[in-house]
Amino acid sequence: MLVQGNEILHKAHKEFYGVGAFNFVNFEMLQSIFEAAHQAKSPIIVQASEGAIKYMGIDMVVGMVKTMEKRYPHIPVALHLDHGTTFESCKNAIEAGFTSVMIDASHHCFEENLSLTKQVVDFAHTHGVSVEAELGRLMGIEDNISVDEKDAVLVNPQEAEIFVKETKVDYLAPAIGTSHGAFKFKGEPKLDFKRLQEVKKLTNIPLVLHGASAIPDYVREAFLQTGGDLKGSRGVPFEFLQESIKGGINKVNTDTDLRIAFMAAVRKVANDDPTQFDLRKFFTPGMEAMKKVIIERMQILGSANKI
Ligand code: G3H
Ligand code: 13P
Ligand code: ZN
Repeated sequence: MLVQGNEILHKAHKEFYGVGAFNFVNFEMLQSIFEAAHQAKSPIIVQASEGAIKYMGIDMVVGMVKTMEKRYPHIPVALHLDHGTTFESCKNAIEAGFTSVMIDASHHCFEENLSLTKQVVDFAHTHGVSVEAELGRLMGIEDNISVDEKDAVLVNPQEAEIFVKETKVDYLAPAIGTSHGAFKFKGEPKLDFKRLQEVKKLTNIPLVLHGASAIPDYVREAFLQTGGDLKGSRGVPFEFLQESIKGGINKVNTDTDLRIAFMAAVRKVANDDPTQFDLRKFFTPGMEAMKKVIIERMQILGSANKI
């Protein structure tokens, strides 16, 4: 059933678990996410970036999700706009049928971020749609980073308190040291859990972890074995994901893990049988590989068996 983002995340916030927000750019990713949710009995957030919307067309994005929610009516699902950059982008998504949007104005100054977020919240709430915003910048924290540098990049908990009160945003993504993609940390993985707990205490709303892919060893290995290159790649360890959920994270954004798992399986078919050109022979194992990663993630985040 297609529901508001709030409906899924308030329950997760009250019961202290995380819900995977999985990106999709095609039918195969969406099907894998729904099938995993069905098997793990988990709620889901499916999210499309502006790039994904450009690739598929917004009517296709909404149409596919509506078809899937009919196919799996017992699964609570929110359709979320990932990293919306403008008011227009959020408005278009809301009018097309999204039930949750992110306005990412984190690269603007605090005041501009606050005022743009407030504008989106006012519009979204009159349409029954939930809103996510971001504070701080997404980037890994190096071992030798100074306290001042850290303060300049990561979320400021006091600002987060003011921001949430003034904008009435539904959930917040605080930068605590993660980054997007496969190369998250130069040295040992490090996240600022103390800062996260402070933000949770002062805001008391669902929080979002961006850049939450873990790149488990078996996923990296599968990609490497096909001749792929992931030199220097590092994800967020599973223990860190669980620690962030204890600290108040409820929405866990995951894209890179699905991409790597899918492409490893596709590359394997290409390597094993150079004569193969039936798309289904590549994509079926690709979907199986993504599904395995998603089910395992749901168990780690605690959303499995919640429906
Ligand atoms: O936040 C980043 C997501 O992985 C989406 O990436 O903009 O390449 O679709 P994309
Ligand atoms: P990953 O690149 O770690 O999968 O993060 C995805 C994300 O944050 C989407 O908003
Ligand atoms: Zn993100």
